Amino acid sequence: MTRVALVTGGASGIGRACSEALAKQGVKVVIVDINAAKGQELAQDLGGAFIEADLSKRNGCQTAIEETVRLYGGLDILINNAGFQHIDPIPDFPEDSWDDMLALMLTAPFLLIKYAWPQLIKSGQGRVINIGSAHSLAASPFKAAYVTAKHGLMGLTKVVALEGGEHGLTCNTVCPAYVRTPLVEKQIADQARTRGIRPEEVEEKVFLENVAVKKLLEPSDVANYVAYLCSADAWGITGTAQTMDLGWTAR
Ligand SMILES: NC(=O)c1ccc[n+]([C@@H]2O[C@H](COP(=O)([O-])OP(=O)(O)OC[C@H]3O[C@@H](n4cnc5c(N)ncnc54)[C@H](O)[C@@H]3O)[C@@H](O)[C@H]2O)c1
Repeated sequence: MTRVALVTGGASGIGRACSEALAKQGVKVVIVDINAAKGQELAQDLGGAFIEADLSKRNGCQTAIEETVRLYGGLDILINNAGFQHIDPIPDFPEDSWDDMLALMLTAPFLLIKYAWPQLIKSGQGRVINIGSAHSLAASPFKAAYVTAKHGLMGLTKVVALEGGEHGLTCNTVCPAYVRTPLVEKQIADQARTRGIRPEEVEEKVFLENVAVKKLLEPSDVANYVAYLCSADAWGITGTAQTMDLGWTAR
């Protein structure tokens, strides 16, 4: 039976690479994103579907699941990936950004899992992969909402693993260090401007400062691992943080 996957934030970066890797394995992929132009184009290329939805809103999450089930009759794999960054010290941290980040990066994964639960259980080999971060395990200054949301995902991961286990449902959080995506390319360019140094120096001095392997990950590195965790072979891996952090949290 062809499996069905929903990838949030699938129009760009890690989500895009996950959509491609799963489609390569013969999975029907549903991309959910606010970027309709890019999402539609990719869905067409992959022979899947695109749903435009703002997942920071409860009805966006509901629509995403309902529409997927209407299109393909079920859901086997949920990849909670959509996200963004906001960087400011706590006294200046805009309260709206806190609300927006927790809505998209913590509440939406919970709601999507809740709404998809009957389908994930019916699947018999349901898979939930949350895209966390090294910031699911360690903190950095100026990223209060991001670090909080990514740590929160770990708690959700463990509860879903415990409740889903008897139904063959696994849930894991993949925790990468920096990945070369549009989100990170923009941060590198911004910091190069602010600091008056070359982008290569920003990579080396800022983004790779804490890691043992001095190289940014590529989206496909994360996606190939996600595809493995979605496979039948990974049935025994659940409730875990899967670190791909170039040695960051080994310190
Ligand atoms: N790039 C990294 O270095 C890195 C490292 C660790 C974890 N992550 C995590 O990986 C995930 C993806 O990051 P990325 O670097 O690929 O980013 P990206 O900006 O390339 O892609 C994010 C996607 O999410 C979509 N999105 C944003 N807000 C949305 C909303 N309200 N509703 C629906 N879709 C929305 C965007 O349109 C975009 O397509 C994020 O959760 C991020 O925290 C990224």
